[in-house]
Amino acid sequence: MKIGFIGLGNMGKPMALNLLASGYEVMGFDINESALKKLEEAGGIAATSTDEIIEYAELVFTSLPSSEVCEQVYLGDNGLIKKVPTGVVLVDTSTVAPELERRIGEAAVQKEVSFLAAPVSGGVVGAENRTLTFMVGGPKQLLESIHTHLAVLGSNVFHISEQYDSGTNAKLINNLLIGFYTAGVAEALTLAEKSGLNLDFLFNVLNVSYGQSRIYERNYKSFMANDDYEPGFALKLLNKDLRFAMELAQEHGIQLPISQALVDMYEDAEASGLGDKDMSVLFKRVGTQTISFKAEGVSKA
Ligand SMILES: NC(=O)c1ccc[n+]([C@@H]2O[C@H](COP(=O)([O-])OP(=O)(O)OC[C@H]3O[C@@H](n4cnc5c(N)ncnc54)[C@H](O)[C@@H]3O)[C@@H](O)[C@H]2O)c1
Repeated sequence: MKIGFIGLGNMGKPMALNLLASGYEVMGFDINESALKKLEEAGGIAATSTDEIIEYAELVFTSLPSSEVCEQVYLGDNGLIKKVPTGVVLVDTSTVAPELERRIGEAAVQKEVSFLAAPVSGGVVGAENRTLTFMVGGPKQLLESIHTHLAVLGSNVFHISEQYDSGTNAKLINNLLIGFYTAGVAEALTLAEKSGLNLDFLFNVLNVSYGQSRIYERNYKSFMANDDYEPGFALKLLNKDLRFAMELAQEHGIQLPISQALVDMYEDAEASGLGDKDMSVLFKRVGTQTISFKAEGVSKA
């Protein structure tokens, strides 16, 4: 099967390389030339536009950084929904606004194009090791027809519901929790450091205690312990997902004051210039902030 891959960044590149390694023919497109070069070096084909992907592929994955880019790639004048022939399957693995996945889904139904909104969790390591979790919204039958291809990329594939935005809603809940855990690790380890505790030793102790979490392990072992914050999962991308989660809460008329405080914290870190670093860089910001929390009843000078 010929596969197209649009967006060869931290997540898209390892996924595309795994498809190549599994014997698929892969053509990729990215606006960043160095990303295309890496695909070519691994035996893939570099496209010069999404049009080339449309002509080539039977199955197209996208892994894009924002709702704006995703909207342009799917719904723009030259977009996938307008141009792909019937029979081609489109799978968006990006995390974008749920309402956008609904609009893409509706446009796909109108044009009789096959589309699934399938955000992933598991990070770059999960993408490299083929252990991603897919949370899929859209027709179950369509998912079943491409299940073997998704199994090359991840070890857990969940159909959330027929609703196109359902996988994204599940993913936003996941990322709200990631936001909490990351902030918790950043604050707790700042306090530990100030208290004179050895952070490596503390990790070994807490790793076998209830304070342990996958995010503590990921953030500490892969980033904080090395004082190296190359992403990974960029803080600005987590912040985007937290904003979507807050919009979802607003849509349902729910107030989430602690989540709001969390968003303020990440907004502050992004505004300070840390947006392109891995989310674990929040550790560097704790103790230096002067945030005015919007959440009622919570204030910090
Ligand atoms: N990094 C993670 O750990 C992680 C985990 C799960 C989900 N995600 C989600 O996956 C998506 C991608 O994340 P990432 O970390 O790989 O981001 P990234 O910024 O590393 O990669 C995005 C890629 O898209 C390319 N791009 C931008 N505009 C484009 C366009 N018009 N056409 C083609 N390519 C274009 C960029 O050049 C870049 O290479 C995001 O929606 C993110 O929220 C990321």
